[in-house]
Amino acid sequence: MRVAMLTGGGDCPGLNAVMRAVSRKGERVYGDELIGFQDGWKGVLEGRSVPMGVEMMRGTLPRGGTVLGSSRTNPYKVEGGSEQVHARLAELGVDALIAIGGEDTLGVAHKLAGEGLAVIGVPKTIDNDLSATELTFGFDTAVQICVDAIDRLHTTAESHDRVMVVEVMGRHAGHIAAWAGIAGGATITLIPEQPFDVEAVCDAIRHRHTEGKRLASIVVVSEGATARDAAMELQSGEIDAFGHVRLGGVGARLAEQIESRTGYETRVTTLGHVQRGGTPTAFDRVLATRFGVAAIDAVHEEAWGTMVALQAGSVVRVPLADAVGELKLVDPELYDVAQVFFE
Ligand code: F6P
Repeated sequence: MRVAMLTGGGDCPGLNAVMRAVSRKGERVYGDELIGFQDGWKGVLEGRSVPMGVEMMRGTLPRGGTVLGSSRTNPYKVEGGSEQVHARLAELGVDALIAIGGEDTLGVAHKLAGEGLAVIGVPKTIDNDLSATELTFGFDTAVQICVDAIDRLHTTAESHDRVMVVEVMGRHAGHIAAWAGIAGGATITLIPEQPFDVEAVCDAIRHRHTEGKRLASIVVVSEGATARDAAMELQSGEIDAFGHVRLGGVGARLAEQIESRTGYETRVTTLGHVQRGGTPTAFDRVLATRFGVAAIDAVHEEAWGTMVALQAGSVVRVPLADAVGELKLVDPELYDVAQVFFE
């Protein structure tokens, strides 16, 4: 078969590991020819493809980012876009497409599957907010990057007796924040699922201080967290082709509020794209490899319109519709665990 791959949306550690696995099993076991579209759906629309055989993918297992490039192009926002996708794939003799992405890329794959495209999805996102899979690859790496940063910030916070606010990614789901907050020993963790009260955050910090401890408070705030307080309102940013607003800034605003209300010296660190960069953890390399192998198996079993997923430790197939219908949010039980340690 001629099997194509693409990576869409934000890049993510483990993307190359997925493609390396697809390519290895596809070529060596099934005798497939593998190609890749550059820059997500944009490359499909423009018919830009490259060979993705075993030799091409050699040495890419530990490499972050995606050798194919990525974009946030939505073919359904381009005049005649979906027809163009079908036409390009037919012209290039593509028998099956493996789309590796998050809710946006897989949302497009789901629609195209409904129009008869032979497509399989692989769940990718550092945000871990895709339904129907317990984990997405890239999440473990992002959490580890946050925890390494928080560990470092603890020592500076202690030395200077400061409050440190750490803003992490995650869009409208607080998985990265919740995990990083628990693993990093945060004083408070704020997630989008639970709007917060600035004064309550300040009270917790004051309480910690009056107990005679040095401040050294770490406040982890998810970029999509919202406050009930008008003073925290942020200007809304740019909107992308999938209708997402560009987030960021809540950490800086919160730090200003904490400093002005408590009088304690406060600094902010926005981890930003550092969370998506660099080499995947061993866990993500293994998960991505398992997903890649499962995806090429799904191609050969013609399981069109499905996504490979992790459930109860096993890699299974689920309908793409189940993955993109609604966001997977933080389980309140996990947030309760984080709250046990709030001061
Ligand atoms: O979805 C992954 C993610 O990193 C989000 O956590 C973040 O809000 C967004 O992408 C940032 O997107 P961009 O790279 O386009 O700024």
